[in-house]
Amino acid sequence: MSEKLPILYNKKPCYDIVFTQSFDGLWDELQALGCADKRLCIVTDSKVDELYGAAVLNLLEGKCLKAVKYVFPNGEENKTPDTVAGVYRFLIEEGFDRKDLLVALGGGVVGDLTGFAAATYLRGIDFIQVPTTLLSQADSSIGGKTGVDFDGYKNMVGAFKMPRLVYMNLATLSTLDDRQFFSGFAEIMKHGLIKDCIFYEWLIENMYEICERDLNVLQEMLLRSCNVKKLVVEKDPTEQGDRALLNFGHTIGHAIEKYKNFQLYHGECVALGCVAAAYISWKREMISMEEYYEIRDMFVPFNLPISIYDIDPGEIVKLTKSDKKMEAGKIKFILLKKIGKAVIDRTVTEEEILAAVNEINFSEEDAHE
Ligand code: GLY
Repeated sequence: MSEKLPILYNKKPCYDIVFTQSFDGLWDELQALGCADKRLCIVTDSKVDELYGAAVLNLLEGKCLKAVKYVFPNGEENKTPDTVAGVYRFLIEEGFDRKDLLVALGGGVVGDLTGFAAATYLRGIDFIQVPTTLLSQADSSIGGKTGVDFDGYKNMVGAFKMPRLVYMNLATLSTLDDRQFFSGFAEIMKHGLIKDCIFYEWLIENMYEICERDLNVLQEMLLRSCNVKKLVVEKDPTEQGDRALLNFGHTIGHAIEKYKNFQLYHGECVALGCVAAAYISWKREMISMEEYYEIRDMFVPFNLPISIYDIDPGEIVKLTKSDKKMEAGKIKFILLKKIGKAVIDRTVTEEEILAAVNEINFSEEDAHE
């Protein structure tokens, strides 16, 4: 069964998130957006193209003015301005104008890059998100953040550009490998922790079905998780204030991601960052020791790491200072006031960050205990 969650912008309906279990309803949604008279370009990567490229192109061909597909090589290393330039060239060759529309079919790299191409081609054309990974369904396809990496800096160049639609076919989750699936789960857990204690408890109760990828349970999970993100991005679309709450776990998480040269998945780093931030919250007596250990141990059944080997904690602390989320030299750290309520804090010290990194650092000593 399909369900819809409308996202408002300036209190007016802006776009719908459709939760469903096949691509069958995609054309109806596009038709409702007036796409019968438009050129449509599916932008996807080589991995997603093999799985779904032909099927989605088939659905569109013959129904709109023109349906074409642009495929770039899979991998974060291709999330660059050069790949965007390839999209521009293709659109120019295919005669795309301002009224036409891009379809981002894939995970976070595809969604962010296509959104950025849409934000900038001819000063902005429409696009829709068709996210195919749990990470992109739970997080990156919603809220209009688009962009590419630049000179090794993640998401350094970008724009806010709202999609016209987010179409989630949850059946795509069945082709993800376990590591990729659980990586996406970290952002879902984060949504419960920062804003919705009842949802957090629901995740614990439904742990088995989630790990088994029961599609109906995943649909309810995503609906509830996206509802948290909806409430945050509607209130603060361009991150002037509370949208920063979504960065819970990301300050230390991003630092670990960089330190490990992107060998760990984003969600794995976010899980480690959430444990570290919960640890600081406990040490500041904002949450209890029991709550801290419960949060930490909750990541384990979802195959997410709660400790890490082979790191230099001092280097991780240094890297937290180069995070984009700095403001006037101060780190905007997100802490938990309680489970289901996060707060922005600008007073977290280097010593506190170091203690938190030491907490998640699995040392030789731990090994011998
Ligand atoms: N992923 C955080 C945000 O969308 O603001």
